[in-house]
Amino acid sequence: MASPRTTHVASAVHDPLAAARQRLIVALDVPTRAAAAALVDRLEGQCQWFKVGLELFTAAGPSILEPILRSGHRVFLDLKFHDIPNTVAGAVRSAAALGVQMMTVHAGGGPVMLAAARAALEGTANSPELLAVTVLTSMDAGQLSEVGVPASPAEHSEDLALLAINTGFRGLVCSPQEVAHMRGLTGPEGILVVPGIRPAGADSGDQKRIATPAQAMRQGASYLVVGRPITLAPDPARAAEGIVHEMAGALPDQTN
Ligand code: C5P
Repeated sequence: MASPRTTHVASAVHDPLAAARQRLIVALDVPTRAAAAALVDRLEGQCQWFKVGLELFTAAGPSILEPILRSGHRVFLDLKFHDIPNTVAGAVRSAAALGVQMMTVHAGGGPVMLAAARAALEGTANSPELLAVTVLTSMDAGQLSEVGVPASPAEHSEDLALLAINTGFRGLVCSPQEVAHMRGLTGPEGILVVPGIRPAGADSGDQKRIATPAQAMRQGASYLVVGRPITLAPDPARAAEGIVHEMAGALPDQTN
């Protein structure tokens, strides 16, 4: 696909709010097709991207993507594949055929799995951007240690990012607390997708490594993923608008 970032660079020059809208990905973490459709409707004009993740995809199936794509939005299919290389390669091929623009695998699946995932997209027309997930934003040092990882989240994120980059990935999912370091690793060509976003004073929920929209943008994020601060707000469109304004005020001069 044409890099979404190319679009952003052009728009950012003329209209920071439009550029910010193109960088906001709203997570449709809802249990039904009807709830997803209602949110897409209510957020019309607020964002270009929606993220479909495990909850909605499992409940509604692949056909949930079609109306979102048909309404002119882009879809980030966030199923975070993590399995043996052959299985992940097949899943990546199947997901790419659904016409989404971004999708994820876990970097922790290892170099052979990551290479198989990338190879599965070779020769695919309109191939989605394949992102490698580093350390989940819900994990802190204590939880990492419980799963046998003695490194800090920052150290482990760097190891996983380098693994992905060395396997040919330019796109990473990382926490806002590590995004500046990730930008240093990828350079301006990297596509850094950042969840764990909380406007000042918002409930952090299960997220641990968080930052505000402005902080994440200033640290070099390409896209922000925002779920509950928008989807659980009394007025989701108003919440999204506030986040877009905060992002627009923090867009770097040199967009990435
Ligand atoms: O509601 P909230 O804003 O916390 O949602 C964050 C979204 O980003 C969720 O859909 C979650 O699956 C996703 N995500 C994450 N941390 C990652 C990767 C994805 O929170 N490392």
